[in-house]
Amino acid sequence: MVKTKIAVLISGNGTNLQALIDAQKDGVLRHGRIVLVLSSNSIAHGLKRAEDAGIETAVVTKKEAGSQEAFERGILEELESRDIDMIVLAGFMSILSADFVKRYDRRIINVHPSLIPAFCGKGCYGLKVHEMALDYGVKVTGATVHYVNEIPDGGQIILQKAVMIKKNDTPKILQKRVMAEAEWQILPQAAEKVAKRLMMEKNARTKQYQIDDIGKLLADNAYPGRGIVIGETKTSGKAAAAYFIMGRSENSRNRVFSLKDGALYTEPFDPSKVKDPSLIIYAALRSYENNLIVTNGDQTDTIYDFLKEGKTFEQALETRQFEPDHPNLTPRISGIIRFRGDKTEDGPAFAYKMSILKSEDPDGNRCGRYTYSFEPEAGLGHFIHTYECDGNPLPTFAGEPERISIPDDIDAFAEEMWRNLDAANKISLYVRYTDPATGEYEDRLINKYE
Ligand code: GAR
Repeated sequence: MVKTKIAVLISGNGTNLQALIDAQKDGVLRHGRIVLVLSSNSIAHGLKRAEDAGIETAVVTKKEAGSQEAFERGILEELESRDIDMIVLAGFMSILSADFVKRYDRRIINVHPSLIPAFCGKGCYGLKVHEMALDYGVKVTGATVHYVNEIPDGGQIILQKAVMIKKNDTPKILQKRVMAEAEWQILPQAAEKVAKRLMMEKNARTKQYQIDDIGKLLADNAYPGRGIVIGETKTSGKAAAAYFIMGRSENSRNRVFSLKDGALYTEPFDPSKVKDPSLIIYAALRSYENNLIVTNGDQTDTIYDFLKEGKTFEQALETRQFEPDHPNLTPRISGIIRFRGDKTEDGPAFAYKMSILKSEDPDGNRCGRYTYSFEPEAGLGHFIHTYECDGNPLPTFAGEPERISIPDDIDAFAEEMWRNLDAANKISLYVRYTDPATGEYEDRLINKYE
C-alpha cells in the first residue's frame, strides 16, 4: 500500500509543521508521509525543523517570482516533480488562486486559529485573528481545520476544537494557547483522516486495473482448490485456457488428467482406491463446434448438451447448482470460449465467459449464479477458483475473477502455475493455447501421479 505523499506549506515558525512531524513519528499520521516542506519565506524557522527531521525543503517566494501566477507556477513545479497527493497549509500566509486549488480539489487542508465562520476570510491571519476575537469579547474561540476551496477559509470543515478565553489573555497568550490546546491536536488528526481517504481511493483505483502474475496469487495460497484461467496471450493473439485440480483427501488426490479426442477428463490414478467417483471423475474440457467448455464438474456435459440444442451457457447453468458436499458446498466454476474466426471490424476473434454457482448461505438452501462476460485484451487473463484458501469448511471463492497476465510462451505459463501450486495438494494441470482463426492449438498436460 502506497502512502499519501504530503507537502506541508509554511511561512513562519512551523510549530504546526512540528506537530505533523511528531504525529508521523508517533504513528498518529499513519496513512500519509511528509515528503516536502515548502516555505514562502526563505528564513522561516520551519525550514530548520524540516531539515532536522530529514524532510526535503523548497523555498518559493512571491517577491522572487514577481507575480501571483509565477509564484503558484513555482509551487506547482515543486509539487508535481514529487507527485504530491495532498497539501497541508500550516501557517502558510498566502492565498492560493481558484485555478490552483481546483487542481487539488479536496486535497488541500488548512489550519485556521478560530472557530470558523468567526474571524476568518481575507486579511484574517496569525495574531490578527486573536486580536479580533478578544476585541469582540467572545468567551470561546478555538481552531478549525478545513478543506481549501476558492473562498478564503470557506471550504468544508473537517475538525474543530474550542478553547475557553481566560481573564488574562492577550492576543499573544491566546495565540499560544489556541495552538497548544487545539491546532497541534486537530491538524495531525485531520491530516491523517484525509491522507487515509486519499490512500484508500488511490489504492482502489490502482487495484481496479492491476494485473498480477498467476504465480504470485498461487504462491501464497495453500488451497485455491480447482482453478480455471481464460484470456488472451500477450502478443500472439491466442486464446489461453487452463484448468488445474488440487485435492486434500486421498479420494480426491487419487486422480490424473487424460486426453481423449481433444477432450480432457479426470480419471482415477489407482482405480482400486476409488471411494466415490461422483464429484471427482468428469469431463473437464470439451469442444462443441466453435465453443470450448472448461469446468470443475459434470456441468461440462450439461453445457455441451444445451449448446447442442441451440441453448446458451447461462441456460445450462440455470439447471445446475453448487456441489452437495456439505459443509464445503464447493462451487461449480465454469468457463466458455466462443471462437469467432478472425479478428474483424465487428469484434474480437473470440469472447469468453466465466461462471460460478455458489451457495448463498451456510446450509446450502439457495444458489447464487454469477456470470462474467469478457472481451479479450492482449496479455490479460481471468482466473477463478473454487476456494478462497484452505479452511474447514472451505471458504468459497469471493469477488470477481482475478486479473492475471498471460505470456506468449505456453511452457513458461504452465511452469509458473505448476511451480506455484502448493506441492502437497496439487494434482494435475492442463493448458491450451488456441489460434482463434484456425482452431489449431498447442497444449501442455502435467500430472503429479504418473
Ligand atoms: C497558526 O496559528 C495558524 O493557525 C495560523 O498561523 C499560525 C502559524 O504558526 N494560520 C493562519 O492564520 C492562516 N489563516 P506556525 O508557523 O507555528 O505553525
